[in-house]
Amino acid sequence: MPDVQREFVMIKPDGVVRGLVGEVIRRLERKGLKIVAMRMMRLDRETAEELYAEHRDKPFFDDLVEYVTSGPVVAMIVEGREAVKVVRNLIGATDPVEADPGTIRGDFALDIGRNVVHAADSPESAEREIKVVFGEEPPIVEYERCDEGWLYEER
Ligand code: RTP
Ligand code: MG
Repeated sequence: MPDVQREFVMIKPDGVVRGLVGEVIRRLERKGLKIVAMRMMRLDRETAEELYAEHRDKPFFDDLVEYVTSGPVVAMIVEGREAVKVVRNLIGATDPVEADPGTIRGDFALDIGRNVVHAADSPESAEREIKVVFGEEPPIVEYERCDEGWLYEER
């Protein structure tokens, strides 16, 4: 399984307070992704600004930081083949109005400023964001899914 990747996923405050934590995790798990770290927390302003540093100059930056610090989040590290692309596809387009039905944003959201979930957009971003949220030594728990032998043709 040479192309296994790590992806950073975060259920945003609207997802948590709307009771969508299980729904989001269910979709990641049933796809075959392996959750190797998970933490419920409240982001402080500094962490949120660092997480979204690429958007610092955008007009929506302050609202975005306000949004993701407004309540609890569930941060996760997931592993699997092409995990970044796979998770981004499961989540759907940034604007839920454009997101395909069947995706998380397509099924559960209506507003770009309340789009339930975040995921890093490249393996490099994932690595950076994992450090921002989980620290230099992320609490990764290694294990095998019992279906790994059937999820992948080769191991
Ligand atoms: P995310 O980083 O949260 O996974 O979302 P994304 O990659 O699909 O979209 P990105 O361009 O990185 O935008 C980050 C988040 O900022 C908010 N946003 N608001 N009002 C606006 O025009 C606008 N554009 C982006 C969204 O919450 C988006 O998820
Ligand atoms: Mg993004």
